[in-house]
Amino acid sequence: MFSHLQAAPTDPILGLMAAYSQDSRPFKIDLGVGVYKDEDGHTPILASVKEAEARRSRNETTKTYIGMAGDPGFNAQMDRLSLGDARALTDSRVATAHTPGGTGALRIAADLIKRCRPDATVWMSDPTWGNHPAVFKAAGLTVRDYPYYDAATQSLRADAMFDALSKVPAGDVVLLHACCHNPSGVDLAPEHWQRLATMAQTQGFVPLVDMAYQGFSTDLDSDAYGVRLLANALPELIYTTSCSKNFGLYRERIGAVSVVAANAEQTVIAKSHLLSTIRNNYSMPPAHGALIVAEILGDAELKAQWLSELAAMRDRINTYRHLMVSRLREAGVERDFSFIDRQRGMFSFLGIAPEQIQRLREEFGIYMVGSSRANIAGLNQRNLAHFVDAMATVLKP
Ligand SMILES: Cc1ncc(COP(=O)(O)O)c(C=O)c1O
Repeated sequence: MFSHLQAAPTDPILGLMAAYSQDSRPFKIDLGVGVYKDEDGHTPILASVKEAEARRSRNETTKTYIGMAGDPGFNAQMDRLSLGDARALTDSRVATAHTPGGTGALRIAADLIKRCRPDATVWMSDPTWGNHPAVFKAAGLTVRDYPYYDAATQSLRADAMFDALSKVPAGDVVLLHACCHNPSGVDLAPEHWQRLATMAQTQGFVPLVDMAYQGFSTDLDSDAYGVRLLANALPELIYTTSCSKNFGLYRERIGAVSVVAANAEQTVIAKSHLLSTIRNNYSMPPAHGALIVAEILGDAELKAQWLSELAAMRDRINTYRHLMVSRLREAGVERDFSFIDRQRGMFSFLGIAPEQIQRLREEFGIYMVGSSRANIAGLNQRNLAHFVDAMATVLKP
């Protein structure tokens, strides 16, 4: 069974994490790992989560199986969080199941697509989150990319993207990032979403929106603009959500997959396939994270606390985007980094050369992945000056 195997390739981020933890220099900075960090460089448990967890453990009366769709209370809360008052919800056109993380949601979406349309191609942005192609290929689907990020202008290749998408045939799937595009930080504007809705309607492709960072860009409603627009405008849509980032529940593995079908009857049928896909996969999701989220979203006081904690995370990231740009300018760095302040979410490409990335790591203990994707949340008041000095040194002509 195993004797003929070669070692599977390791995730470059895991290697980077290992190198970072072995680095004993006190001034080292981790801009690699994709998790939020606070001013102390720590990924905290939110106070609202702590309180909800305590309440759950006091009030929970059973650990019996939760069912294939997971917790109905969580699913209903997530529907409202994702779709607001979108008509698709009141028309009973949405079926949601809670899943082990956003990755679990994507894998269920992929298996469902394979079941419904085995020959569908899944189109993804170039670049996209590293695990996207892997998850969809693992489900046996064909994956292709469409132009997205322009490294020269640090912005969207809108014309090239729409040109490529105009050739996507009916039945194919187009994967879109709802907000905080990982890895580029470049998001679609409302007019892009509107154009996509029209194209999907006329061409018959199905969008799949991955919403892993709702609340990390502007606010919960603005960040869900695209998914809400598509849910109302189109007969069919798939979307996935994750509570890893916005609730800080990374290791609890909690997310959801939702399908929107043409009418209430088709939604019931689509849901039966969604549940059967889950049953064939891991049977039922773990409950803990979902029950915490349901407790928070179902309690006005806890929800208000969570919203202010979410706003604090978002504001911190946006503040450091701004500070990075102004401090680099003040340090005399000639290259224009103002794009960092226009992008959103935790990630941006710094656009520096591989030798500069290597120097940052070797001489200054600053770690980021080889593409120059940096996690802006890794910066804080104690390390910003070191980062700026290091950048000024490696960028010196
Ligand atoms: C774009 C995107 N989608 C999905 C995920 C999956 O998140 P989770 O940790 O909930 O599986 C991530 C995580 O980094 C992500 O960046």
